[in-house]
Amino acid sequence: MMKKGNLYYPAEEAKKKAWVKDKKIYSDALKDPVKFWEKLAKELFWFSPWKKGFEHKPPHFKWFLGGKTNITSNIFENNLAGWEKIKQKTALIWVPEPNNEKTRKVTYDALFKEVQKCANYLKKLGVKKGDRVGIYLPIIPEIVVAMLALARIGAVHCVVFSAFSPDALRIRLQDTGAKVLITADNYYRKGKIIDLEAQAREGVKQTKVKKVILIKRGRNNPWQKEKDFCPPRSMDSEDLQFILYTSGSTGKPKGCMHVCGGYLVQAYWTGKWIFDFHPQDIFWCTSDPGWITGHTYAIYSPLLNGIATLIYEGALDWPEPNKWAKIIDKHKVTIFYTAPTAIRMFKRYGGDVLSDNKFNYLRILGSVGEPIDESSWIWYFEKVGRKKCPILDTWWQTETGGILISSLPGLGPFRPAFTGLPFPGIKVGILDEKGLPALREGNLVILAPFAPGLLRGIYKDEERYMKTYWSQYPKGTYFTSDAALWGKDGLVRILGRVDDVIKVAGHRLATGELEEAVNSHPDITECAVIGIPDEIKGELPFVFAIYSGKRVKEEIEKEIIDLVRKKIGPIASPQKVFLVGDLPKTRSGKIMRRILKDIWLGKKLGDLSTLANPGSVNKLEDAIGNFKKSL
Ligand code: WT7
Repeated sequence: MMKKGNLYYPAEEAKKKAWVKDKKIYSDALKDPVKFWEKLAKELFWFSPWKKGFEHKPPHFKWFLGGKTNITSNIFENNLAGWEKIKQKTALIWVPEPNNEKTRKVTYDALFKEVQKCANYLKKLGVKKGDRVGIYLPIIPEIVVAMLALARIGAVHCVVFSAFSPDALRIRLQDTGAKVLITADNYYRKGKIIDLEAQAREGVKQTKVKKVILIKRGRNNPWQKEKDFCPPRSMDSEDLQFILYTSGSTGKPKGCMHVCGGYLVQAYWTGKWIFDFHPQDIFWCTSDPGWITGHTYAIYSPLLNGIATLIYEGALDWPEPNKWAKIIDKHKVTIFYTAPTAIRMFKRYGGDVLSDNKFNYLRILGSVGEPIDESSWIWYFEKVGRKKCPILDTWWQTETGGILISSLPGLGPFRPAFTGLPFPGIKVGILDEKGLPALREGNLVILAPFAPGLLRGIYKDEERYMKTYWSQYPKGTYFTSDAALWGKDGLVRILGRVDDVIKVAGHRLATGELEEAVNSHPDITECAVIGIPDEIKGELPFVFAIYSGKRVKEEIEKEIIDLVRKKIGPIASPQKVFLVGDLPKTRSGKIMRRILKDIWLGKKLGDLSTLANPGSVNKLEDAIGNFKKSL
């Protein structure tokens, strides 16, 4: 890499190899983004072509209207890389957590057979096109098989992160109306065996699930005896491909609807150009398939590109702190994609843990999920990338289906703490409250024609779709809920969410979701949850709950923490619960969460006279001050 001022550019050698080498692509694409995406889409496999590229009836829009395809045909028999060429190549490398268990490598051919067997098994159970099917699986090869099998027959996968609690599983299953759930008996996490089956059995209560398909980790699958041929279902571009839930401003998670045509096009091309996938690449995306990053970049994108994707069951620092680095070396990973929270953890362990690791094969590094600070960027660049690998800081959301902002590895430029340039064909804006281009910073929006992979709706909640994304600005402007600024060089810097979403170790949570869980405690009627900055995890949830009862406070605090774990899962565990007499409120009764955060951050509070209860502030300052002293 070459440095000029605070910008980094790729070395000549990397430039030569890259798919995209000419920055003219940006101006060309923006001249007519629809035509640009149509040209890209044409390279993929379609049973029949679309009749119209794009249609916009705000807030709704469609891509590749009337086109018919199937994502699994594009992964397998009609792969752009050539089926005969990739058949015997490794598609999947599964690394189990226990060191004494063997890695499993699955070729494209073997994976295809498994997918078809599983598809036939699902068909026999009566699963049909459009049916929603829940998947509650850990990181084992079968999660890939199950997702692709459902896609093969046109059913809609609804993956629920395996570390979500039974309650969290239940509300998602209820919303989808799924009648079938695919789950597993157990898996390993930090040396412990987690009983997933028990959680699943609990989670399906009071849902429509009639059949639970149980996979026994490491043993024969239920679909072993099925035929290994199953023709692909021809899917319309705008048919549902999957639903994935994510957290919004209120307590209830939103089912993001992604469709067959647009998602396929975006998953294929963003992977190819951003990670610069070449036939010999071994790609490791550390995200769990329960999140969108895992859907698109651990599974769909690398497989569409005919390369090997590595998935690892366990924790990145288990059983040893440099487990992740050992995996990179052992499996000759060439492209590594992870989250800032992981990078900060690696950095915290110190340089020693890296002394045995060479990273000889790495050529590209990626980051995603939250802003990466400059010092972590530099550490990642120097210690892992050995100053040779570009750092792709990729911005996107569950809603966007694929990456929308990231500089390209053959072009750059890269700048610490900046995500880079919008992908060719993507129009973004940064607007002030009035909807005018912001002078310095403002809200990040996406302008028509958006992106082929952008969500088409929130499942069964049109009103919320409209309100969350399309009502902030004039019709037809997608509001991301992120604040951002432009660098002089046209690079975008993401400043963080402007709504009530927090990122805890890269996991997206809504403070409203936690508040609902806390309020379900019989002695609590009002509370506020805020995200407090944390060096490793980015943010941590802190609870402030009003309690005036007589029971021992420590007991109540513990019950609240247990409730959050039960309702959402251990990833949402509050760092601290403050039981207080009162919370600062406006005269209309709204709790001022911002004041709580400002007290924590030691900011000047300004005019409090508009509060209904300014007296509440002093007591909170004392409580927070005392707690900080005790740390
Ligand atoms: C939110 C979306 C799909 C990517 C994984 C997270 C934040 C995402 C970045 C980045 C700064 C980022 C935004 C966004 N975010 N990538 N590179 N730099 N912030 O998807 O869980 O739906 O979260 O993650 O705030 O809105 P998600």
